[in-house]
Amino acid sequence: MASPPTPPPDDAPAVENGHGHDHDHGNGNGPSPAKRPRAVISAAEIRAEFAHHDAAVARVNNGSFGCCPASVLAAQARWQRLFLAQPDDFYFHGLQPGLLRSRAAVAALVGAADVSEVSLVDNATTAAAIVMQHAAWSFAEGRFARGDAVVMLHYAYGAVKKSIHAYVARAGATVVEVPLPFPVSSAEAIIAEFRAALDVAKAGGRRVRLAVIDHITSMPSVIIPVKELVVICRQEGVDSVFVDAAHSIGQVPVDVRDIGADFYTSNLHKWFFCPPAVAFLHTRKDGPVAAQLHHPVVSQEYGNGLPMESGWIGTRDYSAQLVVSEAIDFVNRFEGGIEGIRTRNHEKVIEMGRMLAEAWGTFLGSPPELCGSMVMVGMPGCLGVESDDDAMRVRLC
Ligand SMILES: Cc1ncc(COP(=O)(O)O)c(C=O)c1O
Repeated sequence: MASPPTPPPDDAPAVENGHGHDHDHGNGNGPSPAKRPRAVISAAEIRAEFAHHDAAVARVNNGSFGCCPASVLAAQARWQRLFLAQPDDFYFHGLQPGLLRSRAAVAALVGAADVSEVSLVDNATTAAAIVMQHAAWSFAEGRFARGDAVVMLHYAYGAVKKSIHAYVARAGATVVEVPLPFPVSSAEAIIAEFRAALDVAKAGGRRVRLAVIDHITSMPSVIIPVKELVVICRQEGVDSVFVDAAHSIGQVPVDVRDIGADFYTSNLHKWFFCPPAVAFLHTRKDGPVAAQLHHPVVSQEYGNGLPMESGWIGTRDYSAQLVVSEAIDFVNRFEGGIEGIRTRNHEKVIEMGRMLAEAWGTFLGSPPELCGSMVMVGMPGCLGVESDDDAMRVRLC
């Protein structure tokens, strides 16, 4: 057998803060000021990093699939070649150290207590399946009683709602939806609706086993006061809280210890410049169920803990999960790192949203302080968009 593979050389432009081990733990998710890059990325360099984008299309939808710069794609291609050059050596010697490097970078980025709290999975949809599967087994194995409640926001993502129904409602849960108004006016309004829905869920002494809370909903796009809602869940005796933060890293500061949920997932391929598909799932190591979570795809790592199970789900391309450090290097080439990027994105998107709303005589779907890097703007009446089907028609033409 050949010698163990080492991570491929980094030929990305040099920055001072190397490979993700020295990010601030503030946790604004940005580099510490002393470690800021020497030269801020230029406009020409940004254009070169995204020269593979279709020049004929002005991309305004970063929220669905994100975007990945050329320097990160190049690092990903080096990992792919390393794998294909000597698959046995890669799988048995290179893969796990590479994944550990990425997990350590994520742990530092989000303020995890320990790298063992961080698993890398494909996407937020997979993370939701992991949590919902555990809840379903809790019903099947009698830890939860038929009719115990699961609470979710009305604004929850469609696939996550379906996951709750496919796994948890099917296993016996009562699903209670938090009916959020549209447009939402304030964080206080969300908190009030959440409290009222918890009262409904707890009616007649029913136990609330799981609350599923978004950090940033996508349609409509709203930053949810997630930390406050987690505190309410603790006060009201909710067993555990899963935060679907598919959009959070790169749009809002993330400190998983401060937020205090049991399970917290964010994609890295939406707003953090990783290639599709990579997300993390954080589980508190002192949490009661972290050790009972399993990846829905069972492999020979079954029983060795979620981070290990997630790191080997059969033969596949793991390269997106191996370039988290290079994505961190990329964001740190910008003034203020990821914090600077998200501040500028927020300012720009609000400016553009207001401009469109004014031109079309419509309104924004949420107040600016509840927007990150996404904004919802009412479409002009002449387009006749009154339903999801109408919206799809406009999207596709
Ligand atoms: C709030 C929310 N949750 C989950 C997801 C699913 O993300 P993914 O498709 O990467 O699994 C999305 C996707 O846009 C989302 O907006």
